[in-house]
Amino acid sequence: MRRPADMHTHVRRGSMLQLVAPMTAKRFAMAIIMPNTNPPITTARMARTYRDEILKTTRCYTWEFEPLMTLYLTDKLNPRSVTELIRGVKYYPRGLTTNSDSGVQNPASLWTKNTGPHSVLRACADKGKVLMLHAADGFAREHAMVDGSTYMPGEELDPYHQEPHFIRNTLPRIREAHPDLKISVEHLSTMSGVNYMREHGGPTLGCSITAQHLLLDRRDVHRGGLRPHTFWWPIIQKKEDRQAIRELAAGNHDFVWLGSDSAPHPISKKETDCCSGGVLTAHAGIELYAQAFEDMGALDDRFERFASINGPNFFNVKPSKQTIGLVRRAWRVESMFITDDGESPTIHPFMLGEEIRWKLQR
Ligand code: NCD
Ligand code: ZN
Repeated sequence: MRRPADMHTHVRRGSMLQLVAPMTAKRFAMAIIMPNTNPPITTARMARTYRDEILKTTRCYTWEFEPLMTLYLTDKLNPRSVTELIRGVKYYPRGLTTNSDSGVQNPASLWTKNTGPHSVLRACADKGKVLMLHAADGFAREHAMVDGSTYMPGEELDPYHQEPHFIRNTLPRIREAHPDLKISVEHLSTMSGVNYMREHGGPTLGCSITAQHLLLDRRDVHRGGLRPHTFWWPIIQKKEDRQAIRELAAGNHDFVWLGSDSAPHPISKKETDCCSGGVLTAHAGIELYAQAFEDMGALDDRFERFASINGPNFFNVKPSKQTIGLVRRAWRVESMFITDDGESPTIHPFMLGEEIRWKLQR
């Protein structure tokens, strides 16, 4: 297949970056690099430094790998920071996911004139850059009904309702205020999201889908106990939601693409009182998708378009001309990963101890 593109990944910094960036570079021709580092990437200069850091660890490879840089949308982000180098801006609802404390305080500022976020979105629209959405609301703005639950204005939403609420109440307002802006809903996880995409997906609206949302439903998360290494934001939903996501992914739509949301954390952040969202998948970044597409009976041209063509096209980047091979040979995710700094954080990868049916050909 054509060398795929990972349109959503977290490579972190320092020793974690050294460990995980090569995993992505071995499989993908390019990756959208998420900006929720500590501190977050909020200027073009920071993005350039970050890009250099990534290229330093990946340029030893002969095959191509291009980090596609993004900015973290804060209330104070300067629209002039959206330079040529920047492919898009990522919206984080404050407090709703890992490293989101600098996120936009009030989602309404996305569509309210004379606010910082509104002016950044205008700059993005003018320059053809993409707004990437962590499509979740924490609170109901108005009286709302979501999947049978009723919310009073200002009431905290159930975590399973964060995305449906955003899709129905927040996304339409953003689109209305910025009709020319390209918007990508990241890691789509619900049937509500799928229905919205089927109706509105097209040249200015698309979505990325993770392997975990294709492979898991919430029975897997709770089987025999709570399994922290299946916990991401957005959380894994019901089997009906997974089925809807699968049908969308296999549906050959050019507004649907691969975004792994590989998000490594040291085990101390996972096996603890308040487990952080995010799990490493980059160690099998394309193999997991091959497995899911095989399960879906869609391991054909549709897989290549989803994995290698649609994402780059939406972001105005040329799809790769190189190829990779995948062989159907089962292998086991044998062990944890250890970074090589003094503190040696240990990372528990997704599917540790389990078999993956597809292997990257070398
Ligand atoms: C991500 C992380 O760890 O940075 N975690 C996650 O659960 N997906 C943050 C994010 O993408 O929301
Ligand atoms: Zn993410």
